[in-house]
Amino acid sequence: MRPLIIVNWKCNKTTQDSLEWLQKVGPRLESYSKVEVVLCPSFVLLPVVAQTVRSAGYPLRLGAQTVSSIEGGAYTGEVSAIMLKGMVDYVLIGHSERRDVFGETDQQVDQKAQIAAKYGLMPVVLVQGEQTPIPEGVKLVAYEPVFAIGTGKADTPDNANKVAQAVKNKRPNVIILYGGSVNPDNIKLFLDQPHISGTVVATASLVPQNFLELLDALR
Ligand code: PGA
Repeated sequence: MRPLIIVNWKCNKTTQDSLEWLQKVGPRLESYSKVEVVLCPSFVLLPVVAQTVRSAGYPLRLGAQTVSSIEGGAYTGEVSAIMLKGMVDYVLIGHSERRDVFGETDQQVDQKAQIAAKYGLMPVVLVQGEQTPIPEGVKLVAYEPVFAIGTGKADTPDNANKVAQAVKNKRPNVIILYGGSVNPDNIKLFLDQPHISGTVVATASLVPQNFLELLDALR
């Protein structure tokens, strides 16, 4: 499997910003074919981003930043897995911002992972450490220590690898990514670790030039 670079735009970018980003980054992606890039924009941007990626033929997969834990119906504001099906391949579930700011529980993370899988979306469950429960059947896990998220203070590649190994000891079939202040100077060090198969990047992905520098560091 090629290393997975998941780009998490979080609550950033207008339609115009996202189209500019795609225009600058999209045509360059062919030359970084050693990695697989998965872009996770906000829900409202997804249709226009999906349409642009498809018509331009950019080698870019798409993901959502979360999904509802319920199938659908009278739940104002929710976005269900069935709505996302056909538009994205991946769904981030249980990001620490969802847990800590919006009170998402382990039980909801579990329900979200099950419902994503039911509709053919690949759940990427984010864990804060080796103790965070991982729902049954989940194959992609991202270790994101809270202290490293958006702070510029990444975990050490060595410790991230140890956590990844500890998670794999419990769940041998999972693939582990690392997220938290990944930048052009450290991305290769994380990907060189034997138990880390990709990264999640937010801050360093927002400006197209910065994101291309990050990919350049992997050449
Ligand atoms: P960061 O965020 O790259 O800004 O540290 C990563 C994440 O929260 O997924």
